[in-house]
Amino acid sequence: MRADAGPAAAAVLRLEGRDVGTAAADLLHTVIASTPRPVIGVATGGSPSPLYRELAARGGDYRAVTWFALDEYLGLPAGHPQSYAEVLRRELIDPLGLDPRTVHLPDPHSADPHDAAARYEQRIADAGGVDLQILGIGRNGHLAFNEPGAALDSRTRVETLTEDTRQANRRFFPTLEEVPTRCITQGLGTILSARRLLLLAQGAAKAEALHRALTGPVSADCPASVLQLHGDVTVLADAEAAALLP
Ligand code: F6R
Repeated sequence: MRADAGPAAAAVLRLEGRDVGTAAADLLHTVIASTPRPVIGVATGGSPSPLYRELAARGGDYRAVTWFALDEYLGLPAGHPQSYAEVLRRELIDPLGLDPRTVHLPDPHSADPHDAAARYEQRIADAGGVDLQILGIGRNGHLAFNEPGAALDSRTRVETLTEDTRQANRRFFPTLEEVPTRCITQGLGTILSARRLLLLAQGAAKAEALHRALTGPVSADCPASVLQLHGDVTVLADAEAAALLP
């Protein structure tokens, strides 16, 4: 089912959970096939997992693709299993047989993380910008780790995670204390610079945030509302996440 929502009329497709990965993989393969040197932005967390599983199951030639992560935690030791570098190695690099040098993340171990953030922003620009940015949405409306209050035109920078986000990501760590408090994240302006956006949302916990993002005012209170400012957004949501949409 296809429905219009929000001033910029994102294409919203309501899907069964297992179909989110299939539909997302179709779109990603379309972009890769039609772009000479595709640059794909990747999210981590639970939302994109069905996509990455589907890509691994399909196989494919990704040698021309450059990948950029949305964000990375600060404060975890190198090789920590929940660092996004390790998550992407497990979920994307190894299953798809990617050359690790084609998968970029912000450097969380730099002596100057602010400089590392600025350099990451520059690397994305040097690669020609992102052709397709895969996104999840936080239950508080965050996009990447742009928490409520983030400037709508923000660029890649150091951010502090809210308690709500740390609680949501507690499931990946043995204790809440071990969930990092800071990160380097692409900014909302960085994300809006991508030529095409693909938001994946599953589960009832995302319903209110998705509703606010697509039908509420464009406001820093709900960072994902910036999706309404972009002209090419596809939202793939399961029935629970889409429950409050018109
Ligand atoms: C992850 C990211 C976050 C997540 C969001 C949803 O790279 O940037 O914005 O997409 O927190 O997380 P999940 O998918 O685990 O519900």
